[in-house]
Amino acid sequence: MRRLSSESAVLTDEYAIRIGRWSQYAGSEALPFGAMWCVVPPGGSSAPDHHPEVELAVVVGGRAAFAVEGREPEPTPVGTAVLLDPEERHVIHNLSDTEPVTLLSIYWLPEDPEAATAGNAEVARDAR
Ligand code: NI
Repeated sequence: MRRLSSESAVLTDEYAIRIGRWSQYAGSEALPFGAMWCVVPPGGSSAPDHHPEVELAVVVGGRAAFAVEGREPEPTPVGTAVLLDPEERHVIHNLSDTEPVTLLSIYWLPEDPEAATAGNAEVARDAR
């Protein structure tokens, strides 16, 4: 087992937030996914993002809200996972003016982007 802590990660400024890419961890290149810690400063927001990878973002600290495809931000409390389709546009907001938001973002290129999108829609339907 290896313990990887967001609190001791090396963070750099990217996307208007603080990013701790897992490439800083030895052996991470052997993992079948990319990952990064994302820290949104109090009152801050990430730059708009979209990419061909599927992204699974798990909120691990703070008061986050996700805005996707230009819609109103939806609160995503600690313990919430957000699954983003390929090319789905997203912005992360920090709803707190005093505490940072911390997320773990995991991303990978889907073998079949069409299926990845359809699968996500299926999950959304099931949740209703
Ligand atoms: Ni993204």
